[in-house]
Amino acid sequence: MLKVIIVVGARPNFMKVAPIVAAMKRRSQEFAPLIVHTGQHYDKMMSDAFLRDLDLPEPDVCLAVGSGSHAAQTASVMQSFEPVVLREKPDWVIVVGDVNSTLACALVAVKLGVKVGHVEAGLRSRDRTMPEEINRLLTDQVADLLFTPARAADDNLRAEGIADSRIRFVGNIMIDSLLKYLERAKSTTIRERLGIANTAYAVLTLHRPSNVDQRQTFSGILDALDEIAQRLPIIFPVHPRTRKAIVDLGLEKRVAEIERLRLIEPLGYLDFLGLYSEAALVLTDSGGLQEETTFLRVPCLTLRENTERPITVEQGTNILVGTGAHKIKQAALAVLNAGPAQTLRSLPPLWDGQTANRILDALTAEQN
Ligand code: UD1
Repeated sequence: MLKVIIVVGARPNFMKVAPIVAAMKRRSQEFAPLIVHTGQHYDKMMSDAFLRDLDLPEPDVCLAVGSGSHAAQTASVMQSFEPVVLREKPDWVIVVGDVNSTLACALVAVKLGVKVGHVEAGLRSRDRTMPEEINRLLTDQVADLLFTPARAADDNLRAEGIADSRIRFVGNIMIDSLLKYLERAKSTTIRERLGIANTAYAVLTLHRPSNVDQRQTFSGILDALDEIAQRLPIIFPVHPRTRKAIVDLGLEKRVAEIERLRLIEPLGYLDFLGLYSEAALVLTDSGGLQEETTFLRVPCLTLRENTERPITVEQGTNILVGTGAHKIKQAALAVLNAGPAQTLRSLPPLWDGQTANRILDALTAEQN
Protein backbone atom coordinates (compact mmCIF):
# COMPACT_ATOMS: atom_id res chain seq x y z
CA MET A 1 0.00 0.00 0.00
CA LEU A 2 1.41 3.37 -1.02
CA LYS A 3 0.65 6.39 1.10
CA VAL A 4 0.46 9.39 -1.21
CA ILE A 5 0.04 13.05 -0.35
CA ILE A 6 -1.66 14.90 -3.19
CA VAL A 7 -1.25 18.67 -3.15
CA VAL A 8 -3.79 21.23 -4.34
CA GLY A 9 -3.29 24.94 -4.02
CA ALA A 10 -4.89 27.00 -6.73
CA ARG A 11 -7.87 26.85 -9.05
CA PRO A 12 -6.09 25.18 -11.99
CA ASN A 13 -4.97 22.32 -9.72
CA PHE A 14 -8.38 20.88 -8.88
CA MET A 15 -9.21 19.39 -12.29
CA LYS A 16 -5.76 17.80 -12.35
CA VAL A 17 -5.91 16.13 -8.94
CA ALA A 18 -9.55 15.01 -9.10
CA PRO A 19 -8.96 12.11 -11.55
CA ILE A 20 -5.91 10.97 -9.56
CA VAL A 21 -7.83 10.95 -6.30
CA ALA A 22 -10.77 9.13 -7.93
CA ALA A 23 -8.46 6.51 -9.45
CA MET A 24 -6.74 5.96 -6.10
CA LYS A 25 -10.09 5.46 -4.42
CA ARG A 26 -10.94 2.84 -7.05
CA ARG A 27 -7.60 1.17 -6.39
CA SER A 28 -7.79 1.38 -2.60
CA GLN A 29 -5.87 -1.86 -2.13
CA GLU A 30 -2.82 -0.16 -3.64
CA PHE A 31 -3.14 3.49 -2.64
CA ALA A 32 -3.97 5.54 0.46
CA PRO A 33 -4.34 9.16 -0.72
CA LEU A 34 -4.21 12.16 1.58
CA ILE A 35 -5.27 15.51 0.13
CA VAL A 36 -3.43 18.61 1.31
CA HIS A 37 -4.92 21.99 0.31
CA THR A 38 -2.37 24.76 0.74
CA GLY A 39 -4.99 27.52 0.63
CA GLN A 40 -3.16 29.53 -2.07
CA HIS A 41 -6.66 30.09 -3.43
CA TYR A 42 -9.31 30.46 -0.79
CA ASP A 43 -12.35 32.31 -2.20
CA LYS A 44 -15.44 30.15 -2.47
CA MET A 45 -15.51 30.36 -6.27
CA MET A 46 -11.75 29.80 -6.60
CA SER A 47 -11.69 26.70 -4.41
CA ASP A 48 -14.80 25.20 -2.76
CA ALA A 49 -16.87 25.31 -5.94
CA PHE A 50 -14.24 23.16 -7.63
CA LEU A 51 -14.08 20.61 -4.83
CA ARG A 52 -17.84 20.22 -5.11
CA ASP A 53 -18.10 20.16 -8.91
CA LEU A 54 -15.28 17.64 -9.28
CA ASP A 55 -16.57 15.34 -6.51
CA LEU A 56 -13.42 15.84 -4.50
CA PRO A 57 -13.65 15.02 -0.81
CA GLU A 58 -12.91 17.70 1.77
CA PRO A 59 -9.11 18.01 1.95
CA ASP A 60 -7.56 16.02 4.80
CA VAL A 61 -5.27 18.91 5.67
CA CYS A 62 -5.79 22.64 5.00
CA LEU A 63 -2.76 24.88 5.36
CA ALA A 64 -4.67 28.13 4.77
CA VAL A 65 -1.62 30.10 3.65
CA GLY A 66 -3.57 32.70 1.63
CA SER A 67 -2.14 35.39 -0.63
CA GLY A 68 1.21 37.14 -0.48
CA SER A 69 4.24 38.06 -2.51
CA HIS A 70 5.85 35.16 -4.35
CA ALA A 71 8.52 34.79 -1.69
CA ALA A 72 6.09 35.11 1.19
CA GLN A 73 3.53 32.72 -0.29
CA THR A 74 6.10 30.09 -1.31
CA ALA A 75 7.83 30.28 2.07
CA SER A 76 4.55 30.08 3.91
CA VAL A 77 3.50 26.94 2.04
CA MET A 78 6.89 25.37 2.74
CA GLN A 79 6.76 26.12 6.45
CA SER A 80 3.24 24.80 6.83
CA PHE A 81 3.75 21.72 4.64
CA GLU A 82 6.96 20.48 6.27
CA PRO A 83 5.36 19.34 9.55
CA VAL A 84 2.62 17.55 7.58
CA VAL A 85 5.19 15.49 5.68
CA LEU A 86 7.13 14.78 8.87
CA ARG A 87 3.96 13.64 10.62
CA GLU A 88 2.39 11.64 7.82
CA LYS A 89 5.56 10.05 6.39
CA PRO A 90 4.13 9.46 2.91
CA ASP A 91 5.79 7.28 0.29
CA TRP A 92 5.11 9.91 -2.37
CA VAL A 93 4.10 13.53 -2.69
CA ILE A 94 2.27 14.31 -5.93
CA VAL A 95 2.25 17.89 -7.16
CA VAL A 96 0.50 19.16 -10.29
CA GLY A 97 0.91 22.11 -12.64
CA ASP A 98 3.07 25.15 -12.05
CA VAL A 99 1.71 27.30 -9.26
CA ASN A 100 3.67 28.46 -6.23
CA SER A 101 2.24 25.62 -4.12
CA THR A 102 3.60 23.10 -6.67
CA LEU A 103 7.18 24.21 -6.25
CA ALA A 104 6.93 24.82 -2.51
CA CYS A 105 5.65 21.33 -1.72
CA ALA A 106 8.03 19.59 -4.13
CA LEU A 107 10.97 21.31 -2.46
CA VAL A 108 9.85 20.39 1.05
CA ALA A 109 9.29 16.73 0.16
CA VAL A 110 12.53 16.18 -1.72
CA LYS A 111 14.56 17.67 1.13
CA LEU A 112 12.89 15.28 3.56
CA GLY A 113 13.82 12.37 1.33
CA VAL A 114 10.23 11.73 0.19
CA LYS A 115 9.74 10.87 -3.46
CA VAL A 116 8.01 13.48 -5.60
CA GLY A 117 5.91 13.00 -8.71
CA HIS A 118 5.19 16.05 -10.90
CA VAL A 119 2.09 15.84 -13.06
CA GLU A 120 2.17 18.09 -16.15
CA ALA A 121 5.96 18.11 -16.21
CA GLY A 122 8.16 19.38 -19.02
CA LEU A 123 6.04 22.29 -20.27
CA ARG A 124 8.16 25.32 -21.12
CA SER A 125 7.18 28.77 -22.37
CA ARG A 126 10.86 29.81 -22.38
CA ASP A 127 9.67 33.05 -20.82
CA ARG A 128 11.42 33.51 -17.52
CA THR A 129 9.34 36.56 -16.64
CA MET A 130 6.43 34.17 -16.03
CA PRO A 131 6.46 33.04 -12.40
CA GLU A 132 5.04 29.69 -13.56
CA GLU A 133 8.06 29.07 -15.80
CA ILE A 134 10.39 29.30 -12.80
CA ASN A 135 8.11 26.97 -10.86
CA ARG A 136 8.16 24.46 -13.73
CA LEU A 137 11.93 24.51 -14.19
CA LEU A 138 12.67 24.01 -10.52
CA THR A 139 9.95 21.46 -9.79
CA ASP A 140 11.10 19.31 -12.69
CA GLN A 141 14.70 19.45 -11.54
CA VAL A 142 13.90 18.10 -8.06
CA ALA A 143 11.04 15.68 -8.74
CA ASP A 144 11.74 11.95 -9.00
CA LEU A 145 9.09 11.10 -11.58
CA LEU A 146 8.04 13.51 -14.30
CA PHE A 147 4.62 12.80 -15.78
CA THR A 148 4.43 14.55 -19.14
CA PRO A 149 1.35 15.46 -21.22
CA ALA A 150 3.10 15.59 -24.61
CA ARG A 151 6.19 14.18 -26.31
CA ALA A 152 7.60 17.69 -26.75
CA ALA A 153 7.66 17.96 -22.96
CA ASP A 154 9.90 14.86 -22.80
CA ASP A 155 12.28 16.59 -25.21
CA ASN A 156 12.33 19.73 -23.06
CA LEU A 157 13.27 17.69 -20.02
CA ARG A 158 16.02 15.77 -21.84
CA ALA A 159 17.44 19.07 -23.10
CA GLU A 160 17.77 20.11 -19.45
CA GLY A 161 19.77 17.00 -18.64
CA ILE A 162 16.98 14.99 -17.03
CA ALA A 163 17.45 11.25 -17.48
CA ASP A 164 14.92 9.25 -19.47
CA SER A 165 14.51 6.99 -16.44
CA ARG A 166 12.67 9.81 -14.63
CA ILE A 167 10.31 10.68 -17.51
CA ARG A 168 6.90 9.07 -18.03
CA PHE A 169 4.75 10.18 -20.95
CA VAL A 170 1.26 9.65 -19.56
CA GLY A 171 -0.93 12.15 -21.47
CA ASN A 172 -3.05 15.06 -20.41
CA ILE A 173 -4.62 14.71 -16.98
CA MET A 174 -7.07 17.61 -17.49
CA ILE A 175 -8.73 15.69 -20.27
CA ASP A 176 -9.62 12.95 -17.76
CA SER A 177 -11.78 15.51 -15.95
CA LEU A 178 -13.11 17.08 -19.11
CA LEU A 179 -14.31 13.76 -20.50
CA LYS A 180 -15.85 12.72 -17.22
CA TYR A 181 -17.80 15.93 -16.71
CA LEU A 182 -18.59 17.17 -20.22
CA GLU A 183 -22.09 15.76 -20.39
CA ARG A 184 -22.98 17.02 -16.92
CA ALA A 185 -21.54 20.44 -17.80
CA LYS A 186 -23.57 20.69 -20.98
CA SER A 187 -26.75 20.22 -19.01
CA THR A 188 -26.07 23.10 -16.62
CA THR A 189 -28.30 26.13 -17.07
CA ILE A 190 -25.46 28.64 -17.27
CA ARG A 191 -26.32 29.83 -20.78
CA GLU A 192 -29.98 30.31 -19.87
CA ARG A 193 -29.00 32.15 -16.71
CA LEU A 194 -26.85 34.50 -18.76
CA GLY A 195 -29.57 34.90 -21.38
CA ILE A 196 -27.37 33.66 -24.23
CA ALA A 197 -28.87 30.22 -24.86
CA ASN A 198 -29.71 31.07 -28.47
CA THR A 199 -26.97 33.56 -29.22
CA ALA A 200 -23.42 33.26 -30.48
CA TYR A 201 -21.04 34.53 -27.81
CA ALA A 202 -17.37 34.70 -26.89
CA VAL A 203 -15.78 33.82 -23.55
CA LEU A 204 -12.86 35.76 -22.10
CA THR A 205 -10.48 34.98 -19.23
CA LEU A 206 -7.64 37.25 -18.26
CA HIS A 207 -5.47 37.13 -15.17
CA ARG A 208 -1.75 36.99 -16.04
CA PRO A 209 0.25 39.74 -14.34
CA SER A 210 1.78 40.53 -17.76
CA ASN A 211 -1.71 41.36 -19.10
CA VAL A 212 -3.56 42.90 -16.21
CA ASP A 213 -0.93 44.64 -14.11
CA GLN A 214 0.03 47.37 -16.61
CA ARG A 215 -2.41 49.97 -17.76
CA GLN A 216 -1.08 50.21 -21.30
CA THR A 217 -1.36 46.48 -21.99
CA PHE A 218 -4.74 46.09 -20.33
CA SER A 219 -6.11 49.17 -22.17
CA GLY A 220 -4.92 47.79 -25.50
CA ILE A 221 -6.72 44.52 -24.84
CA LEU A 222 -9.87 46.46 -23.92
CA ASP A 223 -9.68 48.36 -27.23
CA ALA A 224 -9.70 45.07 -29.09
CA LEU A 225 -12.56 43.72 -26.96
CA ASP A 226 -14.56 46.86 -27.72
CA GLU A 227 -14.43 46.04 -31.43
CA ILE A 228 -15.08 42.32 -31.01
CA ALA A 229 -18.08 43.10 -28.80
CA GLN A 230 -19.68 44.88 -31.76
CA ARG A 231 -20.00 41.41 -33.28
CA LEU A 232 -21.05 39.31 -30.31
CA PRO A 233 -21.38 39.47 -26.54
CA ILE A 234 -18.26 38.58 -24.57
CA ILE A 235 -18.78 36.79 -21.26
CA PHE A 236 -15.95 37.59 -18.87
CA PRO A 237 -15.75 35.68 -15.57
CA VAL A 238 -13.36 37.92 -13.68
CA HIS A 239 -10.46 36.51 -11.64
CA PRO A 240 -10.05 38.30 -8.27
CA ARG A 241 -6.63 39.73 -9.18
CA THR A 242 -8.11 41.15 -12.41
CA ARG A 243 -11.04 42.65 -10.52
CA LYS A 244 -8.52 44.39 -8.30
CA ALA A 245 -6.38 45.51 -11.27
CA ILE A 246 -9.38 47.14 -12.98
CA VAL A 247 -9.89 49.31 -9.90
CA ASP A 248 -6.19 49.97 -9.23
CA LEU A 249 -5.52 51.00 -12.84
CA GLY A 250 -8.59 53.23 -12.99
CA LEU A 251 -10.13 51.19 -15.81
CA GLU A 252 -13.63 50.77 -14.36
CA LYS A 253 -15.16 53.40 -16.61
CA ARG A 254 -13.48 52.07 -19.75
CA VAL A 255 -14.68 48.53 -18.95
CA ALA A 256 -18.22 49.73 -18.28
CA GLU A 257 -18.32 51.55 -21.63
CA ILE A 258 -17.98 48.29 -23.55
CA GLU A 259 -21.61 47.41 -23.51
CA ARG A 260 -21.52 43.79 -24.51
CA LEU A 261 -18.48 42.93 -22.40
CA ARG A 262 -20.25 41.20 -19.52
CA LEU A 263 -18.28 40.91 -16.33
CA ILE A 264 -19.46 38.09 -14.10
CA GLU A 265 -18.13 36.38 -10.98
CA PRO A 266 -15.70 33.46 -11.47
CA LEU A 267 -17.57 30.28 -12.38
CA GLY A 268 -17.26 26.77 -11.01
CA TYR A 269 -15.86 23.94 -13.14
CA LEU A 270 -19.17 22.68 -14.53
CA ASP A 271 -20.70 26.06 -15.36
CA PHE A 272 -17.48 27.23 -16.97
CA LEU A 273 -17.12 24.07 -19.05
CA GLY A 274 -20.79 24.34 -20.03
CA LEU A 275 -20.13 27.92 -21.12
CA TYR A 276 -16.89 27.67 -23.12
CA SER A 277 -17.74 24.34 -24.74
CA GLU A 278 -20.51 26.11 -26.68
CA ALA A 279 -18.67 29.37 -27.36
CA ALA A 280 -18.03 30.68 -30.87
CA LEU A 281 -14.68 31.97 -29.68
CA VAL A 282 -12.54 31.89 -26.54
CA LEU A 283 -10.03 34.62 -25.72
CA THR A 284 -7.69 33.77 -22.87
CA ASP A 285 -4.32 34.00 -21.22
CA SER A 286 -4.87 30.79 -19.27
CA GLY A 287 -2.72 27.72 -19.86
CA GLY A 288 -5.26 24.97 -19.34
CA LEU A 289 -7.97 26.57 -21.42
CA GLN A 290 -5.74 26.38 -24.50
CA GLU A 291 -5.79 22.61 -24.10
CA GLU A 292 -9.43 22.28 -23.16
CA THR A 293 -10.55 24.27 -26.21
CA THR A 294 -8.24 22.21 -28.41
CA PHE A 295 -9.88 19.04 -27.16
CA LEU A 296 -13.35 20.47 -27.84
CA ARG A 297 -12.28 22.12 -31.11
CA VAL A 298 -13.47 25.51 -29.93
CA PRO A 299 -11.47 28.32 -31.58
CA CYS A 300 -9.11 29.89 -29.05
CA LEU A 301 -7.07 33.07 -29.22
CA THR A 302 -4.30 33.20 -26.64
CA LEU A 303 -3.47 36.72 -25.55
CA ARG A 304 0.17 36.02 -24.89
CA GLU A 305 3.44 36.14 -26.83
CA ASN A 306 4.32 32.54 -26.05
CA THR A 307 2.82 29.28 -24.88
CA GLU A 308 4.16 26.35 -22.90
CA ARG A 309 1.59 24.25 -24.74
CA PRO A 310 2.69 24.44 -28.41
CA ILE A 311 0.76 21.28 -29.28
CA THR A 312 -2.44 23.36 -29.03
CA VAL A 313 -1.16 25.56 -31.85
CA GLU A 314 0.34 22.76 -33.96
CA GLN A 315 -2.51 20.30 -33.61
CA GLY A 316 -5.29 22.25 -32.01
CA THR A 317 -7.50 25.29 -32.38
CA ASN A 318 -5.24 27.74 -30.59
CA ILE A 319 -3.72 30.86 -32.15
CA LEU A 320 -1.13 32.94 -30.30
CA VAL A 321 -2.09 36.55 -30.92
CA GLY A 322 -0.11 38.52 -28.35
CA THR A 323 -1.60 41.56 -26.66
CA GLY A 324 -1.69 44.15 -29.43
CA ALA A 325 -5.20 45.45 -30.08
CA HIS A 326 -4.98 45.24 -33.86
CA LYS A 327 -3.78 41.64 -33.97
CA ILE A 328 -6.38 40.46 -31.46
CA LYS A 329 -9.17 42.12 -33.39
CA GLN A 330 -7.99 40.83 -36.78
CA ALA A 331 -7.65 37.28 -35.52
CA ALA A 332 -11.04 37.33 -33.79
CA LEU A 333 -12.82 38.62 -36.86
CA ALA A 334 -11.07 36.06 -39.06
CA VAL A 335 -12.26 33.24 -36.80
CA LEU A 336 -15.81 34.59 -36.61
CA ASN A 337 -15.99 35.11 -40.38
CA ALA A 338 -14.74 31.58 -40.99
CA GLY A 339 -17.72 30.23 -39.06
CA PRO A 340 -17.91 27.16 -36.88
CA ALA A 341 -16.42 24.64 -39.32
CA GLN A 342 -13.09 23.67 -37.75
CA THR A 343 -10.72 21.39 -39.56
CA LEU A 344 -10.97 18.04 -37.87
CA ARG A 345 -7.49 17.18 -36.87
CA SER A 346 -6.57 14.20 -34.75
CA LEU A 347 -6.33 14.85 -31.06
CA PRO A 348 -2.90 14.84 -29.43
CA PRO A 349 -1.84 11.35 -28.30
CA LEU A 350 -2.98 10.12 -24.88
CA TRP A 351 -5.57 12.83 -24.40
CA ASP A 352 -7.93 9.96 -23.75
CA GLY A 353 -9.21 10.12 -20.19
CA GLN A 354 -6.84 7.38 -18.96
CA THR A 355 -3.96 9.51 -17.75
CA ALA A 356 -4.67 9.05 -14.02
CA ASN A 357 -4.50 5.26 -14.40
CA ARG A 358 -1.19 5.52 -16.22
CA ILE A 359 0.19 7.66 -13.40
CA LEU A 360 -0.93 5.12 -10.80
CA ASP A 361 0.57 2.27 -12.81
CA ALA A 362 3.87 4.14 -12.95
CA LEU A 363 3.86 4.71 -9.18
CA THR A 364 3.15 1.03 -8.53
CA ALA A 365 5.85 -0.04 -10.98
CA GLU A 366 8.41 2.06 -9.07
CA GLN A 367 7.86 -0.03 -5.93
CA ASN A 368 8.57 -3.31 -7.70
C1 UD1 B 1 -2.18 31.64 -9.62
C2 UD1 B 1 -1.01 30.96 -10.33
C3 UD1 B 1 -1.25 30.97 -11.82
C4 UD1 B 1 -2.59 30.42 -12.20
C5 UD1 B 1 -3.66 31.16 -11.43
C6 UD1 B 1 -5.04 30.64 -11.74
C7 UD1 B 1 1.19 31.24 -9.27
C8 UD1 B 1 2.50 31.89 -9.38
N1 UD1 B 1 0.23 31.67 -10.09
O1 UD1 B 1 -2.20 32.99 -10.02
O2 UD1 B 1 -0.24 30.18 -12.43
O3 UD1 B 1 -2.79 30.56 -13.58
O4 UD1 B 1 -3.39 31.01 -10.04
O5 UD1 B 1 -6.02 31.28 -11.02
O6 UD1 B 1 1.04 30.34 -8.47
N2 UD1 B 1 -7.00 36.26 -4.80
C9 UD1 B 1 -8.22 36.32 -4.21
N3 UD1 B 1 -8.84 35.17 -3.86
C10 UD1 B 1 -8.30 33.95 -4.07
C11 UD1 B 1 -7.04 33.88 -4.67
C12 UD1 B 1 -6.40 35.04 -5.03
O7 UD1 B 1 -8.77 37.41 -4.02
O8 UD1 B 1 -8.92 32.92 -3.74
C13 UD1 B 1 -6.34 37.51 -5.24
C14 UD1 B 1 -5.44 38.10 -4.19
O9 UD1 B 1 -5.49 39.49 -4.30
C15 UD1 B 1 -4.06 37.63 -4.60
C16 UD1 B 1 -4.20 37.62 -6.12
O10 UD1 B 1 -5.54 37.24 -6.37
O11 UD1 B 1 -3.03 38.43 -4.14
C17 UD1 B 1 -3.27 36.69 -6.81
O12 UD1 B 1 -3.39 35.36 -6.29
P1 UD1 B 1 -2.16 34.33 -6.42
O13 UD1 B 1 -2.52 33.04 -5.86
O14 UD1 B 1 -0.90 34.98 -5.90
O15 UD1 B 1 -1.92 34.22 -7.96
P2 UD1 B 1 -2.96 34.09 -9.18
O16 UD1 B 1 -2.91 35.33 -9.97
O17 UD1 B 1 -4.27 33.60 -8.72
